[in-house]
Amino acid sequence: KPPAPCTMVIFGAGGDLTKRLLVPSLYNMAAAGALPAEFRLVGVDLQERTAEEWTANLRTTIESFAEDKTAEASLGDIRDDTWLRLTRSALFHAGDFTKSELFDGLISKVGDGNVIFYLAVAARFFGGIVDELGRAGMLRETPDRYRRVIIEKPFGHDLESARALDETILASADENQIFRIDHFLGKETVQSIMAVRFANGMFEPVWRREYIDHVQITAAETIGVEARAGFYDHTGALRDMVPNHLFNLLCMVAMESPNSLGADAVRLEKTKLLQAIRRIPVENCVMGQYGAGTLDGQALPGYLDEPGVAADSRTETYVAMKVEIENWRWGGVPFYLRTGKRMHARETEIAIVFRPAPFRMFADEDIDASQQRNVVRLMIDPEHGIRTEFVAKKPGPQITLAPVHSTFLYRDFFGEAANVGYETLIYDCMIGDPMLFQRADAIEACWSAVENLLNGAVQAKSYAAGSQGPDEADALLERDGRSWLPLG
Ligand code: BG6
Repeated sequence: KPPAPCTMVIFGAGGDLTKRLLVPSLYNMAAAGALPAEFRLVGVDLQERTAEEWTANLRTTIESFAEDKTAEASLGDIRDDTWLRLTRSALFHAGDFTKSELFDGLISKVGDGNVIFYLAVAARFFGGIVDELGRAGMLRETPDRYRRVIIEKPFGHDLESARALDETILASADENQIFRIDHFLGKETVQSIMAVRFANGMFEPVWRREYIDHVQITAAETIGVEARAGFYDHTGALRDMVPNHLFNLLCMVAMESPNSLGADAVRLEKTKLLQAIRRIPVENCVMGQYGAGTLDGQALPGYLDEPGVAADSRTETYVAMKVEIENWRWGGVPFYLRTGKRMHARETEIAIVFRPAPFRMFADEDIDASQQRNVVRLMIDPEHGIRTEFVAKKPGPQITLAPVHSTFLYRDFFGEAANVGYETLIYDCMIGDPMLFQRADAIEACWSAVENLLNGAVQAKSYAAGSQGPDEADALLERDGRSWLPLG
């Protein structure tokens, strides 16, 4: 059902996020009939251009992504009528969004109705923009209209700055007007975790310390820093991925069942889980930085030789950690998290590793203990599905065991819908459902958990591009008598 009419104002209209993810998602929504019948895009950015120039340039760029099958955007051919529906009433507003004049000039372009302000800009501008929107009266809601702000990550760079940013923002808007977005929550398998856990009788009873040995959460990428050194070199893998994306996965897999699917019921459980994380000590964290290496036979430069990276940079491009959750369900069950760039394979998944059977009834030398383990893998990227791994008897007169698996893939059951990842989130913002967005208390709990690990507390070790990560990360699990599931 299409949402009520609205205008979406994009700050950072000429930026990368707008071209790569935001507008492709809006296009997919238009194609699926999920956009309001009356919808207006308003682009805001520094460089002067007409709305026609802006949208024509967007279309050319998006078409080039759609042809490049390695790009993240999942789009079919761009159809003229759908594109027109999305862009025909677009407006462009050029100016400097650190200046009040820009906002005064914007008022007439946003009109009187429902508006979503999308902050697709560098994090240092978030507070100032919300402040100016408030000052100009553009965040005032009435019973007939909403005014909402979508804020990208990173939300602050530590606990203190996140609190300060909240204070600034909440001086101009109510918490329920603020939609802190995390695109991992828009991924199909991630949204499905709640369904798998809470709509089936067979998973939830064993989803606890009595049956689960440990959990591994992986977000491995093969890409390097690309052209983003300006952002990445002072951010690093920890801030880029952990207190947001990986902790959101952790919440979905480990939180208690909410009382309902109401946004606050779900978000309450997420916050409780995050607050139960024991502040991670430095000895439970390993960081790495990729050096030169090879991937699929191609020689790759090390991080320090990437364009825009400081020659003596110590920024981590990999981080692994052991997370301990101090609550009744998870006491004693480690959650091992890892993420890195330029790794051996692209793989985002949550692996639930179960405890072994109470004793080995089948004396079987053919398979070792690691092959005997039961694992449920929630496959998030690039495959979307769920795989269960267990042991069965090989056919034949002898009792010989063999590891087997069964896999459910979304594309087999449902076909693969075009999806960039932001569609559900934008739609939810339009209908005013904040369930998949971050509340301020959750963000603070995330920063608090990683507080010990920031600002050079953990030295980055070198790993070869195209590898499984630094050796020290293997040692982190070996110490506990465990090992990472191999990538790829
Ligand atoms: C972004 C990070 O938030 O997520 C990037 O800034 C990272 O560094 C990306 O590459 C990963 O997202 P996805 O959806 O491609 O796994």
